Amino acid sequence: MKKDPTPQGDTSAESTISSYINRIAAERDIDRLLLLLAGFGRDLIGADRCTVGLPDEKDGTLWSKVAHAVPRIKIPRTSGIAGWVATHGEALLINDPGNDERFDSAVDRLTGYHTQSILALPIKDADGRMFGVIQAVNKTTGSGTFSNADREHLQLAAAYVGQALETARRQEEIEASQREIILTMAEAGEVRSREAGRHARRVAACSRLLGEFHGLSEDETEVLRLCSPTHDIGIIAIPDSLLQKPSKLDDTEWAIMKTHPTLGYDMLKHSERRLLHSAAIIAWQHHERWDGTGYPCGLVGDAIHIYARITALADVFDALASDRPWRKAWEMNRIVKLFEEERGKHFDPGLAGIFLENVDALVKIRNAVQDRAEKQAAPPRPPAER
Ligand code: C2E
Ligand code: SIN
Ligand code: SIN
Ligand code: FE
Ligand code: FE
Repeated sequence: MKKDPTPQGDTSAESTISSYINRIAAERDIDRLLLLLAGFGRDLIGADRCTVGLPDEKDGTLWSKVAHAVPRIKIPRTSGIAGWVATHGEALLINDPGNDERFDSAVDRLTGYHTQSILALPIKDADGRMFGVIQAVNKTTGSGTFSNADREHLQLAAAYVGQALETARRQEEIEASQREIILTMAEAGEVRSREAGRHARRVAACSRLLGEFHGLSEDETEVLRLCSPTHDIGIIAIPDSLLQKPSKLDDTEWAIMKTHPTLGYDMLKHSERRLLHSAAIIAWQHHERWDGTGYPCGLVGDAIHIYARITALADVFDALASDRPWRKAWEMNRIVKLFEEERGKHFDPGLAGIFLENVDALVKIRNAVQDRAEKQAAPPRPPAER
């Protein structure tokens, strides 16, 4: 068992604390927070190992444990030290586990590890609800036994991380509900669409690919993929007669059609949350043009959000490659020609370059979405008479 040499004493405890506190404050990922907590606890009290267990929501009875250099393992929620702490909600300090019936020596026998001292505490949230259990094993310094001071230190670390965990968990819940809202809206917008939402999905797939080629981070690419499908959400407030019109729109009709970006923005703008906010910006700016001739605001160049600049390319690409009531789908070489001509006019020149270099990949991904949608389409209806 590899040990981190951990000098003890108040000065080192202080620097341990400040280095961990900074990292914990910046961390929003629950698994990484748990690992930080395990490291924090171990270094703070000079334990050989520190593990963190959380109740497993799926099977209810087991604990997912996080430990250094140990894959997630599961143990029964009601047995062993962690189980006792979880059931009683109290700390447990045992310096002679061999003589304690709460200690389950089966794991030691399995792993060949020799447990000599254990300190385990509940991790509680701000309302005192149990969040999980932190368990430190084998004091490596001094007497080799855990003290009440160790217990207090670990308690402080657990309380601090408990707060960070709660924030992270709430953040995850919020993002999950935002994803649901966006999906629901994209689907609602699709009900009236000419092609049962395949436009939205193809735009999502093409935007994602363009974002990746452009060098957006993985995180931003994912936000773009999730939020680009709702770019036309404002269309649900536009009369079908316009969408289905088999000829050019007249001035009045065109004026109505041009309100769809602002309508979409108004539907989504009420949230400061990242995903909804990004969806709002994309809906608002997807018909802006690089040279400032777009609508609704006539924004120029970089003033148009990168997500909207990318979605604009994906949108026009997919529109031109699709039949419309007033025209048939364009041939690919005609589409490519338009993108060459509009480079630096309608489109961000850098992105248009990326588009032109990767047309084949984009056509491929567009077709893949198309095919998948066709396979998933409802089977032909049985005859009406029975
Ligand atoms: P859409 O058909 O999905 O087209 C999205 C965007 O792709 C258009 O934004 C435009 O930039 C490009 N695009 C689509 N079709 C053509 C085309 O035939 N030629 C060229 N050069 N570009 C094309 P835009 O122009 O702001 O239009 C927004 C929406 O307004 C269109 O979405 C469509 O639903 C409607 N619309 C535009 N023009 C007409 C029209 O002549 N007749 C009818 N019925 N609707 C139209
Ligand atoms: C939409 O998803 O509202 C439009 C479908 C299409 O552009 O064909
Ligand atoms: C539509 O899909 O009917 C309108 C698309 C757009 O405005 O981009
Ligand atoms: Fe649009
Ligand atoms: Fe569109």
